[in-house]
Amino acid sequence: MTQNHTLPGTTDRRLAALLTLLAENGTIVISGARMAREIGVSRSQVWQWVERLRELGVRVKGQPGNGYFLEKVPDILTPDLVRKRLRGSLFGKRVHHFFKTDSTNRVAMELGHAGEPEGAVILAEEQTDGRGRAGRVWQSERGAGLYVTLLLRPKLAPVHAPLLTMLAGISVHSAIQSQAGLAAELKWPNDILLGGKKIGGILTEMHAEPSQVRFVIVGIGVNVNQEKFSGELAGSATSLRKETGRLHSRLELLVKLLQQFESDYNRFLREGPGYVVQRFELASDFANGKKVRVSTGAETYLGTTAGLSADGLLIVKRENETMTTVLAGDVTEVR
Ligand code: BTN
Repeated sequence: MTQNHTLPGTTDRRLAALLTLLAENGTIVISGARMAREIGVSRSQVWQWVERLRELGVRVKGQPGNGYFLEKVPDILTPDLVRKRLRGSLFGKRVHHFFKTDSTNRVAMELGHAGEPEGAVILAEEQTDGRGRAGRVWQSERGAGLYVTLLLRPKLAPVHAPLLTMLAGISVHSAIQSQAGLAAELKWPNDILLGGKKIGGILTEMHAEPSQVRFVIVGIGVNVNQEKFSGELAGSATSLRKETGRLHSRLELLVKLLQQFESDYNRFLREGPGYVVQRFELASDFANGKKVRVSTGAETYLGTTAGLSADGLLIVKRENETMTTVLAGDVTEVR
């Protein structure tokens, strides 16, 4: 089984423990001796770890003689804090944290092949090669968004794996609702929108045999505290901060999201696809009565959304009145 510390780039256990210790004490001064004792290093090494935290952008004040404190408690998703909040749940066991990695989906794939158990959570403060659907880039500014991938090993036929994308969308929808009181729109199959702008997206990948899934990784990106977006996203993306005018705790949002995901995931495994389809339709205006343009690799056509099939595929009534089930492709609303 893969251990946390063998994964290149994972946040060092002692660094995470130091950060947790500082964060749990708010802005109170902690002596170097106590820090050394609690994280299991020598007093002189504490200084080096503090310097490392500073390099990572954490505002630690103080000197070796006087002790240290946080100038401002950072919203960093330290594995200890995440594990503590999710104790006893599927996602509270194996949390892999990176200050910086290329893509949490890439890491999760590697872990999946190495035999990592179901429920592993891979988190990054920043991604240098965040991946979106259809080869797009997912802008992953440091500390601003949630960049998280879940590793699952469900007993599912590969054809049902896309329902996990929808499940993740439902979880993001519900986390945003409870954190900010806003009703996000779920655009089939993997977009989460607020006021027509993209606030989140899901990228699910799997490793499967013809009739059985080996593992699925569900990558979730949510724009939380971004102030602005650059390039082509400037007009098409938004964040919780932009929509509400205030900062939001990524930890709180993550905890809500993972709790919701676990509860819906268990029901899906017990009750089958119908449960997810029903939940998605309830949370998504988009699935019914929206005028859309569908672009598959082979063709582009106009129509109106007419619900989801029993397996969670989008049904579109074309302009010539025929019903089409969309297997894959881009579906955009036509206003
Ligand atoms: C999309 O809407 O195009 C999907 C975006 C998925 C982004 C997330 S961020 C965490 C995970 N790691 C990645 O590289 N991508 C997903």
